[in-house]
Amino acid sequence: MKHLLSLEKLPRADFENIIRDAATFKRERGQHQTRPLAGQTWAMIFSKSSTRTRVSFEVGIRELGGDVMFLNANDIQLGRGEPIKDTARVLGRMIHGAVIRTYAQRDVEEFAEFAKIPTINALTDDEHPCQVLTDIATFEELRGPIAGKVVTFIGDGACNMPVSWIFAAAKLGFELRIAAPKEFQPAAEILQRAGGKLLCTEDLKAAATGADLLYTDVWVSMGKEAEAAGRIKVLTGYQINAPLVKLAKPGALVMHCLPAYRGKEIDAETFEAHANTIFTQAENRLHTQKAILNWAVS
Ligand code: CP
Ligand code: NVA
Repeated sequence: MKHLLSLEKLPRADFENIIRDAATFKRERGQHQTRPLAGQTWAMIFSKSSTRTRVSFEVGIRELGGDVMFLNANDIQLGRGEPIKDTARVLGRMIHGAVIRTYAQRDVEEFAEFAKIPTINALTDDEHPCQVLTDIATFEELRGPIAGKVVTFIGDGACNMPVSWIFAAAKLGFELRIAAPKEFQPAAEILQRAGGKLLCTEDLKAAATGADLLYTDVWVSMGKEAEAAGRIKVLTGYQINAPLVKLAKPGALVMHCLPAYRGKEIDAETFEAHANTIFTQAENRLHTQKAILNWAVS
C-alpha cells in the first residue's frame, strides 16, 4: 500500500519515476490507453480552499479511468467533530483512494493508517509534496536534470513549500538556499533530518546570486490569516523582482506555486515576465498528479 504523505519518506527512485511519468503523461495526453484507476472511486476531502490541486486531481482521476467525489470537510460529519479515524474506517470500506488537504500533518497520517487505502497529501501545514514534485518536473522539462543546480526559495521559509523542497534537495542532489527573515526560517530539526546541501540565510541577495531557479510562495499561508499584518511587516523586502533576478544565473527560471500576491512576494512585472514558466508549472500539476496516482496504485 502506497501513500504520498511527505517527501521525506519518498525513495529517490520513486521521485525519479514520478517525474519521468509526468513527462510521459504530458506528452501522451489523450492518447494513452492505460486506465490504472478503472473501476475505482476516489474521494477528495478538503478543509482548505484550492483551485489547482482540486481541478488537477479531479481531471487526473477521470482521465485515468476512475470516478471521483469532492467532499468539503465541513459538509461531512468530520466538520462536526467525527474523529478522523472513524471517518477513515468508513471511507476505507467504500472508496479506493483519498486525496486530503487539511491543517495537521498528523491527520493525513492517521487517515492513511485507519483507512488502509492509498492516501495522498494535497497540502498540510507541514508539506505540499504534490506541488514540489510538479515543480521539479517543470524545472527538468525546461532546463534538464536538477541535480547539481541551485534552487533559491525566498519568503516564508517555515511554511509547507520550503519544507517539501528541503526533503527533495538531499534526495535529488541539488543545492537549496532559503532566504527568509529569522522569524520565518525552517526548523533546525527538519534541516538536520533532511541533510543535503542547504543554506538558510536572511540575506536574499546572497541566496539569489548564481541561482538556477528563484522560487516563492505567499507570505500568508492558509490558516495564518490572523497573523497577516505581522507577517507582511516582517517579510516585506523578501520579494522576487527585477534587481533580484539579475543576480541569478542568466536564463534562471522564476517559479511560483500560486496563488500569487503581486507587490508582496513577487512584483507584477516579474510575474508577467515569467508567466509562461509559472503557468506551465500550474498546468503540470495535472500531468504530475496523474503520475502520482499511477504510482500510488501500482
Ligand atoms: N498551488 C496550489 O496548490 O494551488 P491551489 O491552492 O489552488 O490548489
Ligand atoms: N503555503 C501556501 C501554499 C499554497 C499553495 C499555503 O499553505 O497557503
